[in-house]
Amino acid sequence: MKLELRNLVKTFADGTRGLDGASLSIETPSFVALSGQNGSGKSLLIRHALGLEEADSGEVLVDGRPLHSRLAEARRRIALVFQEPEHQILGVTVREDVEFGPRAAGERPESYAPRVEAALEAAGLAGYGPRLCAGLSGGEKRRLAVASALVSEPELIVLDEPFNGLDWAGASDLLAVVLRLRASGVGVLVVTHDLEKCLAHADRLVVMDAGRIVRDDAPAALWEELPSLGLRRPAGGYERLAEMSWLTEGA
Ligand SMILES: Nc1ncnc2c1ncn2[C@@H]1O[C@H](COP(=O)(O)OP(=O)(O)OP(=O)(O)O)[C@@H](O)[C@H]1O
Ligand SMILES: [Mg+2]
Repeated sequence: MKLELRNLVKTFADGTRGLDGASLSIETPSFVALSGQNGSGKSLLIRHALGLEEADSGEVLVDGRPLHSRLAEARRRIALVFQEPEHQILGVTVREDVEFGPRAAGERPESYAPRVEAALEAAGLAGYGPRLCAGLSGGEKRRLAVASALVSEPELIVLDEPFNGLDWAGASDLLAVVLRLRASGVGVLVVTHDLEKCLAHADRLVVMDAGRIVRDDAPAALWEELPSLGLRRPAGGYERLAEMSWLTEGA
């Protein structure tokens, strides 16, 4: 699928210009990292991409058609994992949480059960079905949010700051999930400040500043510029980052 955000402008009632002519195009499958300083508009941009927020001007197109003309279909094809995984948990047990979407849509258990199992497996939560959501670790909650997002078999999954608050093992497990998805043909858009955790694997790095996309290129091409864009550059050169994939380093 092709998701296009064209020249989005969003000004809030208090005068804050959240988006100031942001344009971004993503074709799946691909792994895109979106970064930028706090308040640069990353979360807002992805809220527009899912139709959760409407721009003052500009357009959002899915395969060339306006998002709003087929919102329900677009929301099945594009899944969002919010910045705070707690906000997304709707079930008491892990399985109930993953089933929530299809059940709310009136689907029958025979129809959704195989997708629930597949989503748990893909998120590294096989066998977790009966566990209580409240008892999961931070990393497991993130992966539960991913499983719940995967149950609709989306073509693009958007993760907002997925590595926040995760330790090395938690982040490593999550990155492994993301890389498996990418390998299976799903598009992945990761919004993150933790570039060392995903840059070696991303096809593109997109950088936002003050509501605009200011860079969109291969990570290696932007490497030298990262500090001047206000982004922390992982230690060592890009070659080292690519060679010593963060996922396996220290494993
Ligand atoms: N409902 C709102 N009302 C007023 N301003 C808003 C609202 N939502 C977002 N903004 C503003 O829009 C700008 C972009 O916010 P956004 O949450 O997209 O930033 P971000 O890049 O995701 O930041 P962070 O890295 O801290 O998550 C900020 O200046 C923010 O204060
Ligand atoms: Mg944000």
